Amino acid sequence: MVVIREGTGSLSQRLYEALSSAILSGSYEAGAPLPSSRALAAQLGISRNTVNSVYERLEAEGFVAIKASAGVFAAQGAYAPKKPPSRSRDSDYVGFRKKRNDIADFKSGLPDGRHFPVAAWSRALAAALKKASPLVFGYGEPEGRPELREAIASYVGRYRAARCAPNQILVTAGTTQAIGILGSVLLSGKLRDAVVEDPLTQDIKSILQDRGARIMAVPVGETGLDPSLIPGKLKPALVYVTPSHQYPTGRSMPIQNRIALTEYARRVGSVVIEDDYDSEFRFDGPPLPSLQGLDPDNVIYIGTFSKTLSPALRCGYLILPARLIRAAREAKWLSDLHNPILDQLALADFIKSGRYARHIAKMKRLYRARRACLAEALTRTCEAKGVEFEIIGCAAGLHLVVRFPGRRFGAAELESLESSGAKAYPVSVHSLKPKAWEDSLILGYGSLDEAEIETGVKSLVKGIASIETI
Ligand SMILES: Cc1ncc(COP(=O)(O)O)c(C=O)c1O
Repeated sequence: MVVIREGTGSLSQRLYEALSSAILSGSYEAGAPLPSSRALAAQLGISRNTVNSVYERLEAEGFVAIKASAGVFAAQGAYAPKKPPSRSRDSDYVGFRKKRNDIADFKSGLPDGRHFPVAAWSRALAAALKKASPLVFGYGEPEGRPELREAIASYVGRYRAARCAPNQILVTAGTTQAIGILGSVLLSGKLRDAVVEDPLTQDIKSILQDRGARIMAVPVGETGLDPSLIPGKLKPALVYVTPSHQYPTGRSMPIQNRIALTEYARRVGSVVIEDDYDSEFRFDGPPLPSLQGLDPDNVIYIGTFSKTLSPALRCGYLILPARLIRAAREAKWLSDLHNPILDQLALADFIKSGRYARHIAKMKRLYRARRACLAEALTRTCEAKGVEFEIIGCAAGLHLVVRFPGRRFGAAELESLESSGAKAYPVSVHSLKPKAWEDSLILGYGSLDEAEIETGVKSLVKGIASIETI
């Protein structure tokens, strides 16, 4: 007996659902006859036409076979009992953590979302929509919109002393994608060695390794990466550096190391990747000029809007030497076709109108005050509690690194700091050399206001004071 559920769908849709699920669940085994259209129409009080059209649909989808003058039969292979879907939890996403409001989170590299230029950005988006021709609602080019590439070329020339034409720029989904693209383009065959700074952002190491890199770590000293420490026999496919503000140590590379590094790259036929993620926020003097400006043929520059505007935009860019443009464009296309077009147009307008530079200047004042507040609170609180400390690498960016001589921050210590009310991040997780940097913490101040920094430092230092020294 066929039962149609009560409901809002059309009668034929509900009859189709009743019959298809009866076949799927095995109520009609393969080859078993279904009621004739006459009998079913009479049982349900509906027209034979409705039943016949549902049988035709079931036949077209493979549920039944209709045999002329014999009847309608459940088809072979249409039995698939429903299995309950396995339950998923938010925590299935690796690294998922619920944000806690009761602790000061010193996560680094985060701009303050409370200061995102909402009104100016809405205006730029509205203007982009208004001016947009119907073409921008279709697919675009992998390298990005010409308006944005022109705006970026003129911005980096003016503020970062980079040398490029708009056609050398490839718009990417942030630095993260830019590194992946470069990994695909530069690493192949025997060219697998990637020289990197140690310590190094974990994500960048993972992306390069995912593209097949053999990581060759060079320890970072007071002056960033020293090219004379790169093993002599190596012919690396790439050398990755953060010369203006080494992540995480915060150090910068003086001109001597910069010249030596570009000369090294030329000599061994390698290429330097300059990750210039947050150098706009340099507090003691103007931003250091880019390394790319020194040798545009052998340095690939990566810029990002993640720190100056928001990581949520997922927008950055590559400045490429001419010989790599075609391959990088292809890799971007294979990855995700192109960045969202309306965002690109809005960003181009935002940069060209001067609002981007004004926003950076405003945020620089804000972060400078936060950095001073953090340094002052640390000094005052550590002195009061008798905790030895040393601030290193605090000239730029959204974080600083603090050494606490005699202390070690492993998982247990970090958990105990969290229960004191402050979440801090160890440098050691970024260290490629085991047991290095264990006494140092990265303290991000970009997304905490001064009151939050004050309470956070109190909790942090209280927690550190209670950790036994070694
Ligand atoms: C060294 C470094 N470069 C770049 C970025 C920015 O990555 P993205 O532009 O993909 O947001 C980060 C993120 O914090 C970083 O630590």
